[in-house]
Amino acid sequence: MINASTKFIAVIGDPIEHSMTPVIQNAALEALGTNVRNIAFRVRREDFDKAVRGAMALGILGLMVTIPHKEAAASISDELDWLAQLTGSANLLHFRDGTIVGYNTDGYGASQSLKDAGVDVKGKRVAIVGAGGAGRCLCFQMLLDGASCVHLFNRTAEKAIRVVEEAKAKLSYENVYAHELKHEALKEVLKDVEILINATSVGMHPNENETPVPADCLHDGLVVFDIVYNPLETRLLREAKEVGAKVIDGVSMLVYTNVRAVEVCLKLTPSFELMRQRCIEELRRKI
Ligand code: ATR
Repeated sequence: MINASTKFIAVIGDPIEHSMTPVIQNAALEALGTNVRNIAFRVRREDFDKAVRGAMALGILGLMVTIPHKEAAASISDELDWLAQLTGSANLLHFRDGTIVGYNTDGYGASQSLKDAGVDVKGKRVAIVGAGGAGRCLCFQMLLDGASCVHLFNRTAEKAIRVVEEAKAKLSYENVYAHELKHEALKEVLKDVEILINATSVGMHPNENETPVPADCLHDGLVVFDIVYNPLETRLLREAKEVGAKVIDGVSMLVYTNVRAVEVCLKLTPSFELMRQRCIEELRRKI
């Protein structure tokens, strides 16, 4: 039960109503026996700074940050962990002794999700759709995990070009390429790709009929990982399955980011399995 001593971890984004974080994290926080709860707030882009300062003033322990605030979250931080610093994108802010410490745990979540599905990134040809906060971070993470090349697609090509130039400069990689998100380019490049990751919000509830990659670009030699977890099976994953590709949903990545948020804010490790199970139950209940 929430009482006057209850502490909070919050999740902020816009939209936020689809977020599973409060439901799954609260299940884990309860199971740990803590008097800490997770709460979601819709925060508009223009209100981000005020919201973060306000959360700090309210004694909120930390903020999990989602679309569209990940880059602003890195900018507002006093200190950044290595991946947040490298990518200029943070998805977790921890308030520590009056300072804001920004973390990027998306890379960790994605790496672990691929590993859990038995996929080794080392030596693989990878394509990522989306060069926003998440896409940029996954591009860096896949290069660090040993991908033999990364093709980064984005609707706004300039953003992909910028990330690729940064990856080349900061990581000294040459085998990273930017593309505009266009049908022909996708079709041509994906022929030789082994791992495809959707790091855009395309296909997310309530736009479940949308897909970032047309079905005729998919093939059975692909592992398709969608970071969108609501719906559990996005149109992209459904069409990938239909052509015989291996598919990985976004639930594990979400759960790993929740695990890290609790570890950072409370120094406690919550149950991964309990959160994953709770998330799947909740998503199925909504169908
Ligand atoms: P996040 O920090 O979670 O990555 P973001 O920085 O707002 O969120 O990035 C969202 C990503 O989804 C971007 O790559 C965006 O493309 P643009 O950079 O061109 O805006 C992509 N995206 C969102 N809606 C899209 C759509 N309808 N079609 C294609 N890409 C889309």
